[in-house]
Amino acid sequence: LNRTPLIAGNWKLNLDHLQSIAFLQKLHWSLKDASHDFDAVEVAVFPPFTDLRSLQTLVTADKYEIAYGAQDLSQHDSGAYTGEISGAFIAKLDASYVLIGHSERRTLHAETDEVVAGKVAAALRHGLVPVLCVGETAADLEEHGPSAVPVAQLRAALEGVAEGAEIVVAYEPVWAIGSGQAATPEQAQQVAAALRAELAQLLGEDAAASTRVLYGGSVKSGNIAGFMREPDVDGALVGGASLDLDEFASIVRYQK
Ligand code: G3H
Repeated sequence: LNRTPLIAGNWKLNLDHLQSIAFLQKLHWSLKDASHDFDAVEVAVFPPFTDLRSLQTLVTADKYEIAYGAQDLSQHDSGAYTGEISGAFIAKLDASYVLIGHSERRTLHAETDEVVAGKVAAALRHGLVPVLCVGETAADLEEHGPSAVPVAQLRAALEGVAEGAEIVVAYEPVWAIGSGQAATPEQAQQVAAALRAELAQLLGEDAAASTRVLYGGSVKSGNIAGFMREPDVDGALVGGASLDLDEFASIVRYQK
């Protein structure tokens, strides 16, 4: 197994391009000062679209070892789709990743499993690694148990994806997002293992063994280590706490 842990910050609708430059500079130097081993624990941030060009300039010029990605993309490559951003444009900004199917997109922007699948295909078409978000609501949990909905979302999103494709999966129980009530490490492990078993069916054993499964939902410096001890949890997708420099740097340095 060779799964480099990934700590990713989803900034959501926060930090304009000037603020994002300042934040990334501080994060880079904070981690450098702490001798963070970027090969041992990968760091990524997901800023608003309008910040990507600035981060590209900064990261390239100063050789930062922090990856970045977009929070969404269009399933279309070009055409009459007002307001949409194509994977081709995002890839041209040297982004590595793109979040797809975040619960806020599914709920607030009515993204169906079909749209999510189209976006996964678009990301892969442009060489971006999709960070596919799946997770159940509190009502789903009560009705179907812990794994059924996330596993079904995974299956739907990867419909038609070739064996061996590189993706990242983020398990984010909707009830844990921004609520301060994180899942327990055991709950995260249970669903992460179920997702990995499904990945083996969908993408093959090798891809399942090498795909990183993240946990997201009220991750903080105080609970990250517990999640990272679980065998099938390979990192975290951090929302609120990723906007606090010291807190996010502590999450990245969970081993210290
Ligand atoms: O993408 C990140 C998740 O929505 C988690 O957000 O850490 O604020 O709960 P949170």
